[in-house]
Amino acid sequence: MNTNQWVDAAAFDDVPQDDVIGLFVNGHDIALYGVGGEVFASDNLCTHGHARLCDGFLEGHEIECPLHQGKFDVRNGRPMCDPVTDAIRTYPVRIEGGRVFLSIK
Ligand code: FES
Repeated sequence: MNTNQWVDAAAFDDVPQDDVIGLFVNGHDIALYGVGGEVFASDNLCTHGHARLCDGFLEGHEIECPLHQGKFDVRNGRPMCDPVTDAIRTYPVRIEGGRVFLSIK
């Protein structure tokens, strides 16, 4: 594994459980989701329109877009219901030393 690709994104404690936050990592608009003691990461912009998923509603592993209520699975970015049809990009996450690292290029 190329360790250079892991980017320190946030403190683990700053990612709320059962909620989502948005932040910029290396110029990428990223959403971080806290679910069941784990952290998942995806692009923050919805693939359907210009809405930030960090302003949406997280229920379990599903993030609901605030604009038209499309949903994605935060584990793999898969679209879950209309009107979203294109997946959001997700990023591998590693937790180490109380920090959240993303594999982002
Ligand atoms: Fe996200 Fe339309 S902008 S569902």
